[in-house]
Amino acid sequence: MQIYGILASPAGHSLSPAMHNVAFKNLGIDAYYYAFDIAENELDDFMTGLNDGGVCGLSVSLPYKEKIITYLDEIDEDSKAIGAVNTIKNVDGKLYGYNTDWQGALKALELGDLTNLLGKKCVVLGAGGACRAIVYGLKKMGAEVWILNRDVEKAQMLAQEFDCSFGALTDFAQIEAEVVVQTTSAWLSEPDAQLVPKEALKPNMIVMDIVYKPLLTPLLKDAQEQGCKIITGEKMLLLQAEEQFKIWTGKDAPLQPMAQILAQKLQTMK
Ligand code: ATR
Repeated sequence: MQIYGILASPAGHSLSPAMHNVAFKNLGIDAYYYAFDIAENELDDFMTGLNDGGVCGLSVSLPYKEKIITYLDEIDEDSKAIGAVNTIKNVDGKLYGYNTDWQGALKALELGDLTNLLGKKCVVLGAGGACRAIVYGLKKMGAEVWILNRDVEKAQMLAQEFDCSFGALTDFAQIEAEVVVQTTSAWLSEPDAQLVPKEALKPNMIVMDIVYKPLLTPLLKDAQEQGCKIITGEKMLLLQAEEQFKIWTGKDAPLQPMAQILAQKLQTMK
């Protein structure tokens, strides 16, 4: 049996095992996907033991997406530019790193009937680690990107790196965005935070949140009430997993059962 898993700390609440195990089962692949909850002081041992343990591939999540790079033999151009890896494939003992977050985000945006981002005005809220893959993907598609953040200096630094515009959250209304992607962790500390004024959300906007807990975040709620097209956070999770599955197995992931188990798990998640 092939072994896969998510490397994270904590990993216990990850929805990835459910999605990938359903996918393996659906295609009759003899593989199992575990949750590897590895503390920072265990990471060295875990990575050294990967081959002995016969691990064929890993998803990588917080807090390891950046620091895992030093353990890998090669990473692809996208991961290099983003500065983070969320997928590892073990090929005959050599570890290859990829990033599927940006593809997951773009595919999720396509669900809002958005197939061509060229020249589209896109606002990314937040300037933390999670926004890098999104900004990279949007820029790669030729979008005009603004990074707006509470701490404007952080937004400026990222904007310089990825050749974007930047500003404070309060600049939102002036930009007249066509696409808005929420990447902050604001809802964790302030469950009712209003990142942008509700009136600034217009019906022509596509608004996506990458947070899936809660599914209908305060921003998406406002956006829905304003008549925007909204895209909830589990879409990106599902669609980045689809890309991971393809990297590992060379096969198209069975999206329907994966989406179904994800919806089930999210419903029961507190
Ligand atoms: P991650 O790697 O998950 O993106 P991070 O690097 O800690 O996490 O970044 C968190 C992001 O959420 C930052 O953009 C942060 O804004 P600051 O740079 O100003 O700290 C943003 N954030 C967190 N809580 C927020 C809040 N209550 N309001 C607005 N932005 C918030």
